[in-house]
Amino acid sequence: MADSSDAQSLEQAPVYQPPSRLQTGEGGVPVAHIKSLEEYWTMYEQSIRDPDTFFGKMAQDELSWSKPFNQVRYGDFKRGNVSWFLDGQINVSYNCVDRHALTNPDRVAIIWEADEPNQHTHITYGQLLEEVSRIANVLKKYGVRKGDSVAIYMPMVPEAVYSMLACARLGAVHSVVFAGFSADALRDRILDAGCKILITADQGKRGGKTIQLKKIADEALGACPSVQRVIVFQRTGDPNVPFYPPRDVWWHNETANQRPYYPPEPMDSEDPLFMLYTSGSTGKPKGVVHTTAGYLLGAHITCKYVFDLHEGDVHGCMADVGWITGHTYIVYGPLSNGATTVLFESVPTYPNASRYWEMVDKHKITQFYTAPTAIRALRRLGDDFVSSYDLSTLRVIASVGEPINPEAWNWYYTVVGRERCALVDTYWQTETGSHIISPIPGAVPTKPGSATLPFFGIDPAVLDSQTGQELQGNNVTGVLAIRSSFPSVTRTVYDSHIRYMDTYLKPYPGYYFTGDGVTRDQDGYYWIRGRVDDVINVSGHRMSTAEIESALILHPACAEAAAIGVPDDVTGQAVVCFVTLKPDITQDENTIRTAFVSTIRHHIGPFASPKRIIICGDLPKTRSGKIMRRVLRKIAGGDVTLADLDDEQALKNKLGDLSTLADSNIIGSLVKKVIAH
Ligand code: WTA
Repeated sequence: MADSSDAQSLEQAPVYQPPSRLQTGEGGVPVAHIKSLEEYWTMYEQSIRDPDTFFGKMAQDELSWSKPFNQVRYGDFKRGNVSWFLDGQINVSYNCVDRHALTNPDRVAIIWEADEPNQHTHITYGQLLEEVSRIANVLKKYGVRKGDSVAIYMPMVPEAVYSMLACARLGAVHSVVFAGFSADALRDRILDAGCKILITADQGKRGGKTIQLKKIADEALGACPSVQRVIVFQRTGDPNVPFYPPRDVWWHNETANQRPYYPPEPMDSEDPLFMLYTSGSTGKPKGVVHTTAGYLLGAHITCKYVFDLHEGDVHGCMADVGWITGHTYIVYGPLSNGATTVLFESVPTYPNASRYWEMVDKHKITQFYTAPTAIRALRRLGDDFVSSYDLSTLRVIASVGEPINPEAWNWYYTVVGRERCALVDTYWQTETGSHIISPIPGAVPTKPGSATLPFFGIDPAVLDSQTGQELQGNNVTGVLAIRSSFPSVTRTVYDSHIRYMDTYLKPYPGYYFTGDGVTRDQDGYYWIRGRVDDVINVSGHRMSTAEIESALILHPACAEAAAIGVPDDVTGQAVVCFVTLKPDITQDENTIRTAFVSTIRHHIGPFASPKRIIICGDLPKTRSGKIMRRVLRKIAGGDVTLADLDDEQALKNKLGDLSTLADSNIIGSLVKKVIAH
């Protein structure tokens, strides 16, 4: 959380004006949808004062309805019964596919950039309609009906997008599970959602490596009786991939036999569109549910205004469809706007650190969206990887997932954006469905490190975390909450509305609680401070300390575990685990550490691997037995030196009040362990 020295540095933060060419159209670029700060404020104030008129008009103008809604808004955060566009009927797949295919069938919908750099494919809106329809027909044939859950465990191939849109077309609720999750994690998600069908691939390709998706899926399915059918897309065609008919069917055989049209099912505005599991404060991931019309409107209008999307634009979002950023800004937002979206199968450093920029040049990308962790990693490798490429098509460059530090911001702005692009730092969450705080490219001056001002309809409040009182005015620091409902906010947690209420709406009654700390500076700009709960954000991947601890405890050698996040120069945060061993464990520490890492990879996935595992004799606890994480965080972060151990005052300054610590001798041994390790 910010202290007074931070407040001072915020006051001195440099301000960058929106690039004038976006406001004037100089050089032939499209003039921005919103061209001045005044225009932004006028629209923003209307969206807050009269959301019914503002969003009613947006929904009518921007989306295609099969039956008009007759009430814009109902319910609130107090009661947890938020709903939008009541009585309306709409199909998301129709909005993202048909309405463009019917008028512009040859417009490119997807550019698929394969793992190998010399391979890419264009898929037009006309083709997209056929492909989505074929797989929708396959799903129908295998008994998928409106309201059923379908699991999607796919690499970054167009068939992943077809599958999502096919579910939306027939009203099935998709649950995309990131292809980096382990068999156990996939199993838990399939079981929780009661999925009937799994769509997967034989293998995935990423950075030249092969991922055994089907093998992992088979392991997960051993414990998933609800899954009757597995549709397998052949990504590599490796003949050794296991295949078990009649449960398993091949994507190519099945789709070849289906008609390339499937009529979109009219869906109620509030019918669920998808669920996406995300980590919270407890070990069990939550299936965050998004509904049809509100989510689509949020995705559509943030894409249009925050990325300033115009006809003919090529939108390059580098996320994975397994996360919310991929859902909203690779699939639903760009396609609803009729843009061309880039689907990137590889990693930024394969075969070398020019991959992103080579792609921008080759595909003439106009909006480029990535995470600070990628920017930091690429910045370290030097400007030479960027400078030889033509990046002149870029107008908006964007960041998401964690706070972007000013050094990374400046590099992105100067070396990639060449000081002629708007850099938008977009703050949002799986639960909000679309951006909630972000600059608008042609309108809002930016400050490196701040997500700036709220999007339309977002009414942020800074609360005192203890009392829940609103901190009025500027220059305040507290926790970030949202005052009133907005179209794309999550409506429930799958099969667990109590958990939804407890997590988001009960902590501060009447508000949606984000879980993030925030400062509102002297200009009313928001600076996100990171999570105030037990969520760790590693390279933009969100995980909970409890999830990691629950995985560790499953290992027979582990007695107790505490996972914490520590700052990391590249990944933002990194996971450090403190573990105590059961008695009679005789293996050496290195062997045990390796075993613990593989336990975490097995139960969650490789991306959750800790940076360090520290095996210790005991954990610092309060007299009532609660682990003092704040102490562990400081020690793991290297704040405490050996010299401090003999200086009570220094120790107190660095670790805070230790009077509740049950055994004060423990600090010395932990510090020595961390330093020796
Ligand atoms: C963090 C990703 C600072 C934040 C879209 C949030 C950010 C969590 C930013 C959600 C940003 C996301 N600046 N922090 N621009 N964007 N976060 O659900 O802590 O994977 O609560 O959604 O990421 O992560 P999630």
